[in-house]
Amino acid sequence: MKVILEPFQPSFRTIFLCMLSLFYLLLPTLSAQAQGESKTYVGTEICKGCHEKEHTRFITHSKMSSSFKSITRMKKGLTAEELKKCYECHTTGYGKAGGFKSEAETPDLKNLGCEACHGPGSGHASSSNPKDIKRRLDTKDCETCHAKDRVAAFNYKPVLFGGAH
Ligand code: HEC
Ligand code: HEC
Ligand code: HEC
Ligand code: HEC
Repeated sequence: MKVILEPFQPSFRTIFLCMLSLFYLLLPTLSAQAQGESKTYVGTEICKGCHEKEHTRFITHSKMSSSFKSITRMKKGLTAEELKKCYECHTTGYGKAGGFKSEAETPDLKNLGCEACHGPGSGHASSSNPKDIKRRLDTKDCETCHAKDRVAAFNYKPVLFGGAH
């Protein structure tokens, strides 16, 4: 009997099966990514359901929880463009997917809320998993709004653990 050694030439079927198994191998990564991207803002009232204590303290003591009032107070004389600037720091998630759009469309996000510091919470609010929400915060997380020039102008720099809850 003669043995014929053929060079390995994968058939279309083999290639197809390889691609298919690769796809299934990558699937968990892909869907995890998709979930990360689809995290959206749910508003502070949703957090209240499970974090009553933090919620009460935040609403009672932090001016951040009524930050929209500061805009309303100074609204007269501001152009639409200037108002948009205010939204960046005085509302939750403005300019980000699922964040504040307008007072009429997204009333639950008009003030600064839990998610201004902890990030969009839809994933965590439905899973209750602490891994799905940002806990470790850095002064850098505050500086997006408590910017350097502002800190200098007001001679005031928030303490990391002050003002939250
Ligand atoms: C359905 C209940 C539920 C909702 C709604 C919920 N959480 Fe939680 N959260 C939990 C549980 C359970 C834990 C873990 C135990 C704990 O630390 O209290 C937790 C933990 C946390 C932690 C600490 C995470 C860590 O690493 O220790 C933060 C921060 C947090 N939640 C923020 C929020 C925010 C912000 C919202 C609203 C967007 C929210 N939670 C909504 C149940 C919930
Ligand atoms: C999305 C923007 C934003 C982020 C992020 C932010 N802040 Fe603020 N913060 C504000 C605004 C706006 C005010 C003023 C609210 C007002 O009076 O209208 C404020 C006010 C405060 C005040 C003083 C008033 C009070 O009683 O709450 C403290 C303290 C404070 N922030 C702490 C922090 C800390 C600490 C961090 C980071 C962990 C942080 N903030 C992150 C926007 C932000
Ligand atoms: C870069 C972020 C940022 C922008 C943009 C911004 N603010 Fe603020 N605002 C803050 C922070 C942070 C505070 C808290 C005091 C401080 O640290 O400067 C504050 C405080 C205030 C206060 C004083 C509240 C109090 O009770 O003393 C008013 C009023 C206010 N802002 C109105 C506005 C208006 C109106 C606009 C738009 C024209 C605006 N802010 C734009 C971040 C911002
Ligand atoms: C100004 C920023 C800021 C806001 C707004 C904020 N938090 Fe936090 N949160 C923090 C910081 C800072 C920590 C401490 C993180 C650490 O332990 O390193 C924290 C920790 C927590 C924890 C973990 C347990 C604890 O107390 O250490 C929970 C739960 C939590 N926040 C829930 C909330 C909820 C619910 C809201 C809204 C009602 C909220 N936070 C609003 C900054 C904020």
